[in-house]
Amino acid sequence: IAVGVVAALGISLWGGSAMAQGDSYTIKFGNVISAGDTQNQGYALFADLVKERSDGRIKVQVYPDSQLGGEREMIEATQFGDIEMTAPSVGVLANFDKSLEVFDFPFIFEDAETAYKVLDSELGDEMLAGLQNSGLIALGWGENGFRNLAMVKGTVKTPDEMKGIKLRTMQVPMHIAYWRSIGAAPTPMPFPEVFTSLQQGVVDGVENPYELLYSAKFTEPAHYLTETRHIYDPEVILISKDFFEGLSAEDQKIIQGAADEMVAKIRSLKATISDEIRAKIVAAGGTVTDLTDAERQQWIDSAIPFYKENASKVDTEKLKAILE
Ligand code: PAF
Repeated sequence: IAVGVVAALGISLWGGSAMAQGDSYTIKFGNVISAGDTQNQGYALFADLVKERSDGRIKVQVYPDSQLGGEREMIEATQFGDIEMTAPSVGVLANFDKSLEVFDFPFIFEDAETAYKVLDSELGDEMLAGLQNSGLIALGWGENGFRNLAMVKGTVKTPDEMKGIKLRTMQVPMHIAYWRSIGAAPTPMPFPEVFTSLQQGVVDGVENPYELLYSAKFTEPAHYLTETRHIYDPEVILISKDFFEGLSAEDQKIIQGAADEMVAKIRSLKATISDEIRAKIVAAGGTVTDLTDAERQQWIDSAIPFYKENASKVDTEKLKAILE
């Protein structure tokens, strides 16, 4: 990935810098994910590798659990150089670079392998490179995973049953449009507000990968889960463009190399975590329902009006390329 991104970026990689060769400094890496989750295990590996390969000169301080704010705030903080790194969901990032909206289409990826094929292709590299126009450099694709439903009052099996349901979504226009198109009442709100909203009945349910639903304790109030896998949600590992371009060639290489290993680690952890967490949810008294083939087909078909309405509003060529 790195080679492709670097080539597509066409920036002064390995070039001159504001930071002199051999300087010591700290990189602040903010994220909203719970401290023990697989992503933060990947970020911790990144911090260790960077420290080791720079002989302790470069320290990566990871701030999990929304300590530095929500995803939008941290993207802006990275753009302005208030923090150096963050790793938002591609959906939230699409508010900053519209071309990424193609990943917000439901049921676009059947499984993670298919998603990786696209993310690791020239198209994926091109999309990461496009972020430099927003003052950001993407070091690679991280992963939230496949999003599933978690409801407070009872299990939902078919899209028809979503009619009138208040579902917390991310602040992502395409997600909101899909849920609205099937008659639900999408309620966008930042992640840190969701637990209380579920408890107080402000929303009837939430959608996220199992690991994030569980570690954020959403599965306590919302313990009727359905494995809809409606959206595959990649995250993007971002570093401030001004900051990165100001580093020595040696340090850029250390950071990009460690990021490549972090991405590989996150993917390998994600391969098994959903099943592990699903078992924990059930052991804690939750209900997890699989869809029959016919029910899954109903969900896929439910997205057709959404595709018809929205395909022309995004980068249609990219959408077609992904679908192909
Ligand atoms: O639901 C969300 O807001 C996102 O999935 C999360 C947990 C912030 C990760 O990007």
